[in-house]
Amino acid sequence: AQLHPGQRNHSNCRNMNVSVSACVPPPSLPRLLIVYPWTQRFFASFGNLSSPTAILGNPMVRAHGKKVLTSFGEAVKNLDNIKKSFAQLSKLHCEKLHVDPENFRLLGDILIIVLASHFGKDFTPACQSAWQKMVRVVAHALAHEYH
Ligand code: HEM
Repeated sequence: AQLHPGQRNHSNCRNMNVSVSACVPPPSLPRLLIVYPWTQRFFASFGNLSSPTAILGNPMVRAHGKKVLTSFGEAVKNLDNIKKSFAQLSKLHCEKLHVDPENFRLLGDILIIVLASHFGKDFTPACQSAWQKMVRVVAHALAHEYH
């Protein structure tokens, strides 16, 4: 099943095929950079981040957001193996990028807000709880190689 308007009863996150990057217009990564401005420092090489409008219109931010959400989508498909499939990415974010894992949780929460505002009534309490679990699992897996 896909998380699309018109579909209901998403009681189980395994049934949600996350083509998030393809079907959700309001971007999550730009919102992270706007709502939590300190996260901009990781993206200093991405050009103009001087205002919310600049961030929302920044093609590098958008492209990177798509990359992140695509990788998120892969994680959903590999839930049973999520720590292993995220091991390399976890190492990258920890050892090379030095991203504080708290930021994974922030991004997850933003993704949920974006989904809720996009899907409206179809974003049921069952959906919310499945996604909440999902983003927690992803944040946890991404933080797994931190020490
Ligand atoms: C790079 C995934 C959260 C900062 C990446 C890449 C992926 C990814 C797939 C590209 C790796 C490569 O090119 O080999 C994710 C996922 C996240 C997440 C699935 C959470 C759900 C974050 C957060 C931050 C962040 C919250 C910072 C606030 C970065 C940076 C890069 C990167 C700075 C390198 C960008 C570049 O210079 O090209 N991430 N990421 N990531 N990520 Fe994340």
